[in-house]
Amino acid sequence: MIYQACIACGEKYGADEIVYSCKRCGDLLEVKYDYDLLEAKLKKSDWQSLPLSVWRYKDFMPIRDPSKIVSLNEGGTGLHSCQRLVNILGVKHLYVKNEGENPTGSFKDRGMSVGITKAVELNTKTVICASTGNTSASLAAYAAKAGLQCIALIPSGKIAYGKLAQAMIYGAKVVQIRGNFDHALKMVLELSEKHREIYLLNSINPYRLEGQKSLAYEICDQLNREPPDRVVLPVGNAGNISAIWKGFTEFHKLGLIDKLPKMTGIQAEGAAPIARAIKNGKDKIVPIDKPETIATAIRIGAPISWKKAIRAIRESGGTAETVTDKEILEAQKMLARSEGLFVEPASASSIAGLKKLFEAGKIDKDEIVVCVTTGHGLKDPDIAIKISEKPSEVDAEIGSIEKLLGLSRYIPATVGSR
Ligand code: F0G
Repeated sequence: MIYQACIACGEKYGADEIVYSCKRCGDLLEVKYDYDLLEAKLKKSDWQSLPLSVWRYKDFMPIRDPSKIVSLNEGGTGLHSCQRLVNILGVKHLYVKNEGENPTGSFKDRGMSVGITKAVELNTKTVICASTGNTSASLAAYAAKAGLQCIALIPSGKIAYGKLAQAMIYGAKVVQIRGNFDHALKMVLELSEKHREIYLLNSINPYRLEGQKSLAYEICDQLNREPPDRVVLPVGNAGNISAIWKGFTEFHKLGLIDKLPKMTGIQAEGAAPIARAIKNGKDKIVPIDKPETIATAIRIGAPISWKKAIRAIRESGGTAETVTDKEILEAQKMLARSEGLFVEPASASSIAGLKKLFEAGKIDKDEIVVCVTTGHGLKDPDIAIKISEKPSEVDAEIGSIEKLLGLSRYIPATVGSR
């Protein structure tokens, strides 16, 4: 039996009820299962012999009919052992779970595959989201695959070009609003309540988070069911950290792993309401009116899932940290140059956060750490170009290139010189 329930008052809602927050107390919802039933189902399932992907875990997903699944082959992303970065940072064991390897280049695809499958089950024709970029790119792609209309509200002038290109080419109706992500989210919440035929697929929709929890399952399976000591990831609207924590706790409940990692959320200094609350020992966030950071993906001042995120961090014994734009960009370059992994700035904040926490003695040297890099570097080429050395330009002539590269001239041996 699958249903939705309020995380605060426990009020229950049917699996097919279109409801985005608790009608009784207004709090967030989550998808619930009967874990005894699930355990029995898993015993009869061949899931462990399937390749790594979101749908290897279809038994754990709130989907009725597997023939209706809308998929672009999401999940199954690399868990890269980062030896060269280990040497630079001084930590002992570091893996990067690189979500840029997903079909549209971000972790959102995990959530959208499940979210759009649910939209099809519910017979919806139009889906909507507010986005700092990646959500709109992903929703637009999965809506196209399912033949649905997609509307995306984005903050004008504040989304990376690659993401805008994606949403546009996949055929979404892209609306740039004169405001930031928080304004856009408020408006899609209102629109989807007012026009019930429009299905909202921001991370307030608990079905989307079900797809994103597969990231935790994959990490466990990639490490032979020995979960890491710590998972470090960027936090914006706070859906992903909540989803990943749910994934770990479910594997734990089902006896598939016997310990849980410390969830560690990283926010950009100018957009860090959750990290501030954690650092100050507070139970509530103070929203930030004008969030600002170069990492536009996480330029969010009033994260909707803050309560789930704070719970995940506290329950797991984790922590949160803020990083400056400078630290983010340095980490982006460092990861690219030491490991060949090109991630967007928001993603690099996980590496920057790890470095900062480790240097401050808040992460133990012996911990096995997984940093989640959430989006591909090509999403935001402008920044990469801005922070890298400019290419040189010379005449198309060997001598000029040799001169530029400091190579001495190659003098061919003359025939018969012996
Ligand atoms: N990293 C990237 C690359 C993102 O795009 C986002 C969120 C996050 C991290 C933070 O994840 O919101 O679940 O805490 N991007 C959303 C979007 C807000 O609209 O694309 P979160």
